[in-house]
Amino acid sequence: MLAVHEDRLAEAVARLGSENAFEILARARELEARGRRVVHMEIGEPDFDTPENVKKAAVDALYDNHTHYTPSSGLPSLRAAIASYASRFRRVAPEWGPENVVVSPGAKPVIWNTLSALLGPGDEFVYFDPAYPAYASCASYLQASVHAIPLLESRNWRMDLDELARRVSKRTKVVVINSPHNPTGGVLTKSDLECIAELAQRYDFLVLADEIYSRNFYLGSEYLSISSLPGMRERTIVVDGFSKAYAMTGWRLGYAIMPENLAKAATLFNNNTFSCVATFVQMAGIAALTGPDEPVQRMNEIFRARRDRLVKGLNAIPGMSCLLPEGAFYAFPNVSTITQDDRALAKFLLEEGGVACGGGSSFGAAGKGYLRFSYAASLEDIDWALDSIAKTLPKFKG
Ligand SMILES: Cc1ncc(COP(=O)(O)O)c(C=O)c1O
Repeated sequence: MLAVHEDRLAEAVARLGSENAFEILARARELEARGRRVVHMEIGEPDFDTPENVKKAAVDALYDNHTHYTPSSGLPSLRAAIASYASRFRRVAPEWGPENVVVSPGAKPVIWNTLSALLGPGDEFVYFDPAYPAYASCASYLQASVHAIPLLESRNWRMDLDELARRVSKRTKVVVINSPHNPTGGVLTKSDLECIAELAQRYDFLVLADEIYSRNFYLGSEYLSISSLPGMRERTIVVDGFSKAYAMTGWRLGYAIMPENLAKAATLFNNNTFSCVATFVQMAGIAALTGPDEPVQRMNEIFRARRDRLVKGLNAIPGMSCLLPEGAFYAFPNVSTITQDDRALAKFLLEEGGVACGGGSSFGAAGKGYLRFSYAASLEDIDWALDSIAKTLPKFKG
């Protein structure tokens, strides 16, 4: 068999990032296979079952032989359902149509394919730090000129807007925002969004708004999308999907909504890579959007209770301090008085304490000195994890 030596790999491979959470998950599973108890707080995956009506729709679709290719942009009926749901939920006028929607196997590939349709070598791309790793990985692969704006703990993990205003110019092509935010749970305010929208119009850049956690939102108010602000419908790419809201991570179903000409270009990348999403999975997506919303709301109430328990418990552990996340399902405690080597601490908590979590620096330099806990775990598991952290931490030699 031909061995693939490192020197055979394309140079561009070195520019790719990766999601460290998958590596921690693999190690956690190894420990479990050896009989160890592990509480999984490392990966962003709801632990709930997918709602019954969604599973039934997929099974029915299979038995009705919906097992063939669809258009690369997605089934027209799913694209229409997405356009209608997303316009109503975000209060966008005029409503988006199916021509604005690109369906993909999860939100992650549609981020890749949309950025591929937009960025070339040297194009200016602005995101934030800490961040979900996929944005910078893709932009670096495409040889864009990549700039990160720090998120500030002192602003409840929102962007340093002065720094953003200094950074963007007529050369900026795309700015990414992610609210609610992975890994901190921060939510941008109306005035943050208005400021970003004003800059977008002044300097003529596009905003890629990753809104995958828009249903995991704990403020009493309605969710606000930048796409609904005046002048922003035409310059926003909204990324969303089914993984987080409907506990469908393993189904692989997501989408983005964007101006029609860009949707056509992004679809060309779908066509060249995965061709289309599994048809019965797309049919399940229609059931999710048009069926009862109660399962989504119920999961969210449970997440809120877990958040409260986890954050209270983390703040009771000497050396840790954690803001109350306003969305998503992550807590991001500051552990900088314990160590600067957050990844070593995360490894220690897994190996010694059976608590799987992530090091903040896996999400960028500004995450150094923090840990990320996903609270997609039961209250009982959260209590066990908090107890184990409290007992294990004093043994850590930072
Ligand atoms: C901010 C953010 N965007 C996008 C995704 C991708 O989700 P998926 O590909 O499962 O739809 C994730 C997953 O963790 C995420 O945290």
